[in-house]
Amino acid sequence: MAEASDSAQLICPSEQVLEGGKGVRFAVSAFGDKATGFVVRYGGQVYAYLNRCAHVPIELDWAEGEFFESSGLYLMCATHGAIYVPDSGFCAGGPCKGGRLRPIQVREEHGNVYWTPDEFIKALAQ
Ligand code: FES
Repeated sequence: MAEASDSAQLICPSEQVLEGGKGVRFAVSAFGDKATGFVVRYGGQVYAYLNRCAHVPIELDWAEGEFFESSGLYLMCATHGAIYVPDSGFCAGGPCKGGRLRPIQVREEHGNVYWTPDEFIKALAQ
């Protein structure tokens, strides 16, 4: 995977992450397990989270990259319909009450989207 100047990891070109459109998944190691993160665009900004519902720790998307519900205002878990605020990850309704998606640091640079590993969400070993 291509790397930026620091430990940032390339996810994809910016143009692949469209406003309110499909999210782009990427592989991570989360708390020592293989997992996926995802990035979406909302209000012009990119936001990334661990792809793990706060209700039951399973992936949110019912079809690959489908994270937004039909209004485009919330991210939705396909399993029991928990909805999350796209720019904070906080639960806005459903069985995730009081929960939050785990944010992943993400940024755009030179037309690409990169995520940055932290203490618990790491890049998979090459
Ligand atoms: S697993 Fe996501 S709402 Fe239940």
